[in-house]
Amino acid sequence: MIVKSAEFICSNTQISKLPPPVKPEYAFIGRSNVGKSSLINMLTGKKGLAKTSQTPGKTQLINHFLINDNWYLVDLPGYGYARISKSKKEDWNKFIRTYLDKRENLQCVMVLVDSRLEPQKIDLEFCNWLGEHGLPFVLIFTKADKQSAIKTDQNVAKFRKALTATFEEAPQHFVTSSENQIGKEDVLGFIDQINQN
Ligand code: GTP
Ligand code: MG
Repeated sequence: MIVKSAEFICSNTQISKLPPPVKPEYAFIGRSNVGKSSLINMLTGKKGLAKTSQTPGKTQLINHFLINDNWYLVDLPGYGYARISKSKKEDWNKFIRTYLDKRENLQCVMVLVDSRLEPQKIDLEFCNWLGEHGLPFVLIFTKADKQSAIKTDQNVAKFRKALTATFEEAPQHFVTSSENQIGKEDVLGFIDQINQN
């Protein structure tokens, strides 16, 4: 798929104010700093479209971007950010999980996982929550430029294996690097296929 246009539409803390649920939507979620906003910029070819930062906790709102006037990419705040209060964490959890649970045009949740790390409990628990709620998801292993392909493959295999404790089959996965443009065609091709159906 070629991204001809990518446009910021709105930032929200209120689910009632989201764009009407009439176009297919794909939400990017994962731990703070995993590279959600960078991946959105890489996929759209627009560097400053989603705000990125070296400091975790940059994205705080639900951000909608309209692609090719036809479908939405959604940038979400990261989970697992240690330096916010417990009550704020709980508010965030409730808000995001309500969004995921209720958003009727959400086609697939794109769960980003840091390819450098061994399986993390917080990511596995989040995947399990998606499974329990019947939400389709795929895994996107980020920052593949940061280590050897062998190391990435090992961590991917470990994560997939860990998921088989609760899932019959691990979901589809992609390996990406926003730094080196790895995985762009694969992820866009996946979205395109769903949009065609
Ligand atoms: P929050 O909004 O805070 O939840 O973070 P995020 O998941 O949106 O992460 P963001 O895209 O802001 O990236 C966090 C940091 O990781 C930035 O310093 C990025 O430059 C860096 N980064 C993201 N993706 C990659 C990648 O593929 N390779 C490398 N080397 N660095 C990356
Ligand atoms: Mg972000």
